[in-house]
Amino acid sequence: MTVKETPALAWRSARSTSKRPSAAAVCLVVLLALSSTPGFVTRSRSLADQGQRIFRYETFGDETFWTDTLHMDRVITAAVDPTTALSVGLKVDTDSLPPAVVDGIKSGKIDLKNPATTVALLKLNAVVGVRGTVQNVNGKDTLTRVGITCALCHSTVDNSFAPGIGKRLDGWPNHDLNPGAIIALSPALTAAQKAVYNSWGKGMYDARYNHDGKSGPSVIPPAYGLRGVRSITYTGDGSEIAYWNRYVAVTQMHGHGTFDENRLSPPEHVKNPPDSVTALLPALQEYQLGIDAPRPPAGSFDEAAARRGRALFEGAGKCSTCHVGSRFTDAPRRLHAPSEVVSEPEPNGAPPFAARSATRAFRTTPLRALWQHPPYFHNGVAPTLEAVVELYDTKKHLNLTSQQKADLVQYLKSL
Ligand code: HEC
Ligand code: HEC
Repeated sequence: MTVKETPALAWRSARSTSKRPSAAAVCLVVLLALSSTPGFVTRSRSLADQGQRIFRYETFGDETFWTDTLHMDRVITAAVDPTTALSVGLKVDTDSLPPAVVDGIKSGKIDLKNPATTVALLKLNAVVGVRGTVQNVNGKDTLTRVGITCALCHSTVDNSFAPGIGKRLDGWPNHDLNPGAIIALSPALTAAQKAVYNSWGKGMYDARYNHDGKSGPSVIPPAYGLRGVRSITYTGDGSEIAYWNRYVAVTQMHGHGTFDENRLSPPEHVKNPPDSVTALLPALQEYQLGIDAPRPPAGSFDEAAARRGRALFEGAGKCSTCHVGSRFTDAPRRLHAPSEVVSEPEPNGAPPFAARSATRAFRTTPLRALWQHPPYFHNGVAPTLEAVVELYDTKKHLNLTSQQKADLVQYLKSL
C-alpha cells in the first residue's frame, strides 16, 4: 500500500503497540500539542472534507464501465423514471434540490413518472451515489455519461421529505437498494448473468462474483463506526479501510486504478490506467474514520434489561470471548474459522463465503448501531436481534432462559 499514515492512525498504532504507559503518555502530550496548533486541525479537517466529497461524488472515472460497457445511460433515459428509481432503492438528496424543484414535487407539477425528471435530478447531482453528465444535445437535456460513487451502497437519506427523499446519512448502508436488479437492467449482460444479479435481492451485493464467477451475496455493511477497528470486511481482508476502498473502487465500481491481491483464489490483478484512485485514498479514509455510528434512538430499549443483558454478554452468553473491548472485536489479533461461526452453512446452497476471501476466515464483527442495520451476519441469516440470540443459543448450546434472551437483545439494541 502506498497510503500514508494519517495522524489518527499513527495515534492508534502508538496506543496499541506501546507497552509502557509513559511512552503512551508522551505520545498523547505530543498529539494534544499538535492538535491545538491551528495548522494541524485545519489540515486534517480539510482532508476529511475532501474525503466527504470523494465518498459522495467521486466515480474514479468509472463512467467507462457504467456508460461505455453497461450502457446504463441508455437504460436510465429510456425507462428509469423517479418512481422506478425509488422502487429499486435509489435515494434523492433534498439538499441538492432548489426550492422550485421541491415545490414542484410537492404540488405534483414535476412528473415523477417521466425518465426526463430522473435526468433533471441527475443534472442537479441529487441522486445519491449516481453521477450523471447532462449535456444539451439539439436543445434537449441529454444524459451522456453516468457513473457510481461509494454513497450508492453506503449512504441513505432520512426520508424527511418523503420515503426515499431527504437529507443524506453517510455511512448508513442502503438496505433498500437492490444493486443486482439495477445492474441486471444493462443490455450488455447475458441472460445467465442477469439471472445471477437478479437473485441477490435488496441490501445484498456480491463483491467477488465478477472475479471468481461464484454467487453468494453479502449484506451491505455500515461504513460508520470504524475508527479503532484495524481489520476490514467480514473476513478481515485488510488492516485498514483504504485496502478495501481500493478494492471496491477498482474492481467493483470499475474506477481507474490498480488492485493486486495474491491471497485470493485465483489471485487478482486488475490494471485499469490511468490511476485515479491512489491519490484519493488518504482523504477518503480520513473522512470514513470520522463517521461515528448513530446512537440508539431515545426510548428504543429498556435500560434495566440492557444492564442485565450486558452481564450475560460478558458472562453466561460468552459473547465477550470474541466481541471484546470498546470495538467489540478480537480482530485483527484473531480471526475465526467458518466452523466457529453460527451463520454457517450458507443459505440457499451459496458457496462458502470465507473461502472466497483473502483470509478464508471470519472477523468478529465490531458491534455498532446494531439497532440500525438488520439483517445480521455476512449473509443476513438473522433478520432480527432476537434471531441472532436464538441462533447463538442453539448453536453454542447456551441454554439461556427466555428472560435472559430478551435481556441480551435489549443490550444489543443499546450498542
Ligand atoms: C455496490 C455496492 C457497494 C459500493 C458501490 C461500495 N461498497 Fe463498500 N461494501 C459493499 C459490500 C457488499 C461490502 C461487504 C464486503 C465484505 O465484507 O466482504 C462492503 C464493505 C465495505 C467496508 C468494510 C466495512 C467493515 O465493516 O469492515 C467499507 C469500509 C466500505 N465498504 C467502504 C466503501 C467505499 C469507501 C466505497 C467507495 C470506494 C464503497 N464501499 C463502495 C458494497 C459496496
Ligand atoms: C467464536 C467467537 C464469537 C462468539 C463467542 C460470539 N460471536 Fe458474534 N460474531 C462472531 C463473528 C466471527 C461474527 C461475524 C459472522 C458473520 O458475519 O457471519 C459475529 C457476528 C455477530 C453479530 C452480527 C453483527 C452484524 O453487524 O452483522 C452479532 C449481533 C453478534 N455476533 C452477537 C453476538 C452475541 C450476542 C454473542 C453471544 C451470545 C456472540 N456474538 C458470540 C464471533 C463471535
